[in-house]
Amino acid sequence: MQGPPNLISPSLLSCDFARLAEEVARVERAGADWLHVDVMDGHFVPNLTIGPPVVEAIAKVATRPLDVHLMITEPLKYAAHFAKAGAHVLTFHVEVAGSASGAREVIRAFRGAGVAQVGVSLNPDTPVERVLDFLGEVDLVLVMSVFPGFGGQKFMPEVLAKVRALRDRGYTGHIEMDGGLNDKTLGACAEAGTNVFVAGSAIFGASDMPGTIRGFRECAARARAAAHA
Ligand code: DX5
Ligand code: ZN
Repeated sequence: MQGPPNLISPSLLSCDFARLAEEVARVERAGADWLHVDVMDGHFVPNLTIGPPVVEAIAKVATRPLDVHLMITEPLKYAAHFAKAGAHVLTFHVEVAGSASGAREVIRAFRGAGVAQVGVSLNPDTPVERVLDFLGEVDLVLVMSVFPGFGGQKFMPEVLAKVRALRDRGYTGHIEMDGGLNDKTLGACAEAGTNVFVAGSAIFGASDMPGTIRGFRECAARARAAAHA
C-alpha cells in the first residue's frame, strides 16, 4: 500500500487528568501510535487546557511520540518551550499566522527549536487554499472536523473535501483528522486520504480500549484498500 502509514493518535483531552501517567500507559498498551496533546490558551479557543510543564511530565512517562496540537494565538512565543518539553510533532493553526509568509516564519521557528515534525492545522471554515503555498514545507496537515475547543462534538463530513483536495494535489505527507472520529466516521476519513486519526471520547470512553483501537486500525486499512482498488 502506498503513502504514509495509518496512525492512531488518541487525544489525552478525554483521559482522567488526575491519573495522567496511568492513562498514558493504558492507552499505549491498548495500541496508540502517537499521543495527541491538546494545548488551548483561552484566546484562540474558548477553553484552557495544559501548557509546557504538563507536556514535559507526559513526555517523561510516554514511550510513543507526542503529537502536540497548539490551539493558541502565539505559537512563535512558545515554540521553544514545547520543543524542549518533548513535542515530536508540533502543529499550529494557520488562522493565527496571517499570510503565507507568517506561516513560513512559524514553520522555521519550530524547525529551529528542534521539533522532528511540523504540522499546520485548518479550522472547519478555513479553505484549504490557505496552506497550498507552503505545503511542501510541512510534515503534516491537520484538518479539523469540529470547531476546536472541546472533545465529544459531532463530526463535520464537509471537511473531507479538503483531504481529497490535498491528496489530489499530490501531497504525500501526513493528513490528520481531529474531532468526532469514531467507528462510524473514521472509514470516510481514511477513504478520503487521511492517515492519522485522532480520537478522544471514542477511545477513552470505550469499555474495550484495545478492541476499539484495533477496530479503528482495521476500518482505516479496509477503507484505504477500497479507495485504491
Ligand atoms: C478538539 C481537540 C480534539 C478533541 C477531540 O478541540 O482538538 O483533539 O480532543 O475529541 P473527540 O474525539 O472527542 O471529538
Ligand atoms: Zn486536537
